[in-house]
Amino acid sequence: MDIITANTYDDLSQVAAEILIKKVKQNPNLVIGMATGSTPTKLYEYLIKDYKENRTSYQGITTFNLDEYVGLDKNDSNSYFEYMNRNLFKHINICIENTHIPNGKAEDLEEECRNYEQKLHDKGPIDIQILGLGENGHIGFNEPGTRFDSRTHVVKLTESTRKANARFFKTMEDVPSHAITMGIDSIMNAKEILLLVSGKNKAKAYEQLMNGSFSDTFPASILKKHPCVRIITDNTVLQNSSIIA
Ligand code: GLP
Repeated sequence: MDIITANTYDDLSQVAAEILIKKVKQNPNLVIGMATGSTPTKLYEYLIKDYKENRTSYQGITTFNLDEYVGLDKNDSNSYFEYMNRNLFKHINICIENTHIPNGKAEDLEEECRNYEQKLHDKGPIDIQILGLGENGHIGFNEPGTRFDSRTHVVKLTESTRKANARFFKTMEDVPSHAITMGIDSIMNAKEILLLVSGKNKAKAYEQLMNGSFSDTFPASILKKHPCVRIITDNTVLQNSSIIA
């Protein structure tokens, strides 16, 4: 695993954006694995800024999002569909038909998972997967205990993940109980992984990723087995952990 240490969250986002923009320019048909949550929002701001200034084209780019809540309408402000439109897609020249996000309102969720895997198979592999890190070590919505050989599936969210995401919802009861997520094996199929870790609430998880053992109780530990992982972290994490940069 390659570790890049940035000073601030802003720097981290800029470094991540530079890596992505370079890859988009090198391969106009790049397949990008997208993440949601707070961590990648500034990275997306930098992609939009670059698009406005330099017109880096996303016309041939395909994207796959990691996950989506079950039960939220596509245009619910908390759906990841809406998040991606608001934070990135509507600001760049990406073809919406080339973007993929699991449908959390599908009548048959199991079928939706199978279809999503099929699309990943047909249009993939993902060239570069952006990842955030859950406080409990989850990647996507793969909670502790998820099998390392899992593919896209429906997951029951842990209370700690629901609490961590409650800040986006009016009340705790509004936080969905389930989600669809790409599985750990689906994520590991990406050719390259870019893990972004920022915020003092991530310090413990980062420490465990660096020093902990390989175990399905800490899903992100699988990343140690991937041949091409870059981790970008910043001082908000390092100053609150025992890891020396
Ligand atoms: C959320 C998302 C993950 C995200 C992680 C960290 O639950 N499903 O894809 O990477 O948790 O989120 P944040 O960046 O908001 O801390």
